[in-house]
Amino acid sequence: MSTGLWSEDKTGGNGMYKHGLAGKNILSVAQFNREQLEEILRLSHDMATTVARFGAVQPLHGKVLANLFYEPSTRTSSSFIAAMQRLGGTVIPINNVQFSSVAKGESLRDTVRTLAAYADIIVLRHPETGAANTAASALERYEFRIPIINAGDGIGEHPTQALLDLMTIKEERGSVDGLHIAMVGDLKNGRTVHSLSQLLALYEDIHFTLVSPESLRMPSATVAFLNEHNCGIKETDSLDGVLEEAGVLYDTRVQKERFGDPAAYEELKLSYVIDQATMKRASDTMVLMHPFPRVGEIAYEVDDDPRAAYFRQMRNGMYVRMALLAGVLGKV
Ligand code: NCD
Repeated sequence: MSTGLWSEDKTGGNGMYKHGLAGKNILSVAQFNREQLEEILRLSHDMATTVARFGAVQPLHGKVLANLFYEPSTRTSSSFIAAMQRLGGTVIPINNVQFSSVAKGESLRDTVRTLAAYADIIVLRHPETGAANTAASALERYEFRIPIINAGDGIGEHPTQALLDLMTIKEERGSVDGLHIAMVGDLKNGRTVHSLSQLLALYEDIHFTLVSPESLRMPSATVAFLNEHNCGIKETDSLDGVLEEAGVLYDTRVQKERFGDPAAYEELKLSYVIDQATMKRASDTMVLMHPFPRVGEIAYEVDDDPRAAYFRQMRNGMYVRMALLAGVLGKV
């Protein structure tokens, strides 16, 4: 099988791929520099072309992915499965930990060590911040060590989502530098915005408008990080004046499962609703993104607006995950 993608030497002749993914864990966006990001985006774009041309290819034939999800997921879980299958690999899907030995009280350490005895790579989603690091440590000195990819750890990070968001910004706008992005919604608990903002900080001339209710503001450590990277930052609780100026509006859901008090969630859940009237105020070129699921904060009537990029964004998730799986498993 030769698509060009697999046959060319992308290593510069020294056997090292520029993305630096081979054999590595993907735990946090902090591990990437700009050159690596560019390479991952290029590779993801190649995957889109490969899927358009061939549907599926075989570089991961014989490889096994253990897809271990302790929290609900539709897009992340199924796009990792689709990515693995379109590259010729197979999947052990554990989407329902109640039916695994987790229900008998097995520790995360033992569960990942078990899966590492069978699979070549693990994708993990877990409700606790830092769980992916814990799992990676459990595998560090293990005789069947395999790489692990963080698919969301509590309110911590969601690095693969940030990469697909970055790809979407690049593909929709043509470039990332010079971006004015408005992040809207639950910036306190939304792990996607924590990861994406840190990645964007590696680019030039980035301006953030952070729109949230007072109690759901972006964590101060993240804001400090953006400041250190010379990003422009404005924090506000109102969309007024934001829509007209933002190049990307990145909307998020209020994260119900992170609230101790259901009444507080009910009060805040629909703080901002994007509908056709809202879109009328936005610029003609604004890109509307959302990691999904949405639970009322974007009206269905917006879906046919060409500026609504969220379905293309989820499709990009499969391409990025193909690039990451092939990269980590040393095939590109
Ligand atoms: C996000 C997540 O799980 O953090 N979903 C996703 O992976 N596409 C966003 C969310 O749940 O709100």
